[in-house]
Amino acid sequence: MSGRNVISQQKHSGRFDPGLAIPEAEAHFFLPSEVIVNLEMIAKLSERHPVNCLVAGKQGCGKSTLVRQFAARQRRPLATFQVGILSEPGQLFGEHRLKDGKTYYQEFLFPQAIQTPGCVIHLEEINRPEHPKALNMLFSVLAEDRRVFLDELGEIKVAPGVVFFATLNEGEEFVGTEMLDAALSDRFYVTALDYLPQEVETKVLHLKGGVDEATALTIVNVANRLRGNKHEPMIISTRHALMIAEMVHCGASVKQAFIHSLQMNKNILETVLLSLHVELGLKEHDGNEYQPY
Ligand SMILES: Nc1ncnc2c1ncn2[C@@H]1O[C@H](COP(=O)(O)OP(=O)(O)OP(=O)(O)O)[C@@H](O)[C@H]1O
Ligand SMILES: [Mg+2]
Repeated sequence: MSGRNVISQQKHSGRFDPGLAIPEAEAHFFLPSEVIVNLEMIAKLSERHPVNCLVAGKQGCGKSTLVRQFAARQRRPLATFQVGILSEPGQLFGEHRLKDGKTYYQEFLFPQAIQTPGCVIHLEEINRPEHPKALNMLFSVLAEDRRVFLDELGEIKVAPGVVFFATLNEGEEFVGTEMLDAALSDRFYVTALDYLPQEVETKVLHLKGGVDEATALTIVNVANRLRGNKHEPMIISTRHALMIAEMVHCGASVKQAFIHSLQMNKNILETVLLSLHVELGLKEHDGNEYQPY
């Protein structure tokens, strides 16, 4: 389904909602080519029927950006919902409210989004609803039948071309679909995202974080040492590496930036920096002397 089609259908049905806008593409976002091919396949599949795609990966590795980028590249509207905070079944659809002593039903964005042809629907933290029953109605929408009945809204049917992206955060202890109910995971195509390889992360820090390539490489090298540290491996996401690069861009030293953004043990950082000094001849001002402030 082409983007233009989606827009004209939305206008036609009078359901265009600012919460369902087509997002802007983000510059300098990198994905493995096989993932890009996969996403193109998902777009094609959605021409036949709505599709579910699960994006699994560690914190801050680009899952949300991937979903937004898909919507932007495909010129489709995007709507994002936090599944992690749901505590009861119908909560995504709407709620009863009170006004002037009378109750009425307020419909939320979710029913509108799933009835919008070609819409991209991002379900965040699908593995973590506060209450397991909260997934029940969502399940009907993701299953083959793709329809759900609510007393307040009647039957709601998923529109043609809709793509559901569910994202889940992999922790140390769980990997991918292990964390999902078997019946649910059986209905998803799965894409796993990993942290970026050294060259690509360096490019990202340079292009997005504003530091020169040599500094970007230093930051990535330090981060990789800390990630691979045998005694106390640290999780440093691409998001966090970017925060460090931005701090360096604003004038901090690499050491300061790591200490201030990671709340980390100075000794471990010293050891890593020292070994990089020796290997790479890395220059770093210490800034340890005291000054009046
Ligand atoms: N592959 C990448 N290329 C460029 N930038 C990236 C990449 N991965 C992550 N980033 C940047 O890192 C930041 C975090 O990305 P994003 O929010 O998409 O991660 P996430 O996996 O959804 O995080 P969370 O687990 O917290 O939901 C964003 O600024 C994003 O642009
Ligand atoms: Mg996210």
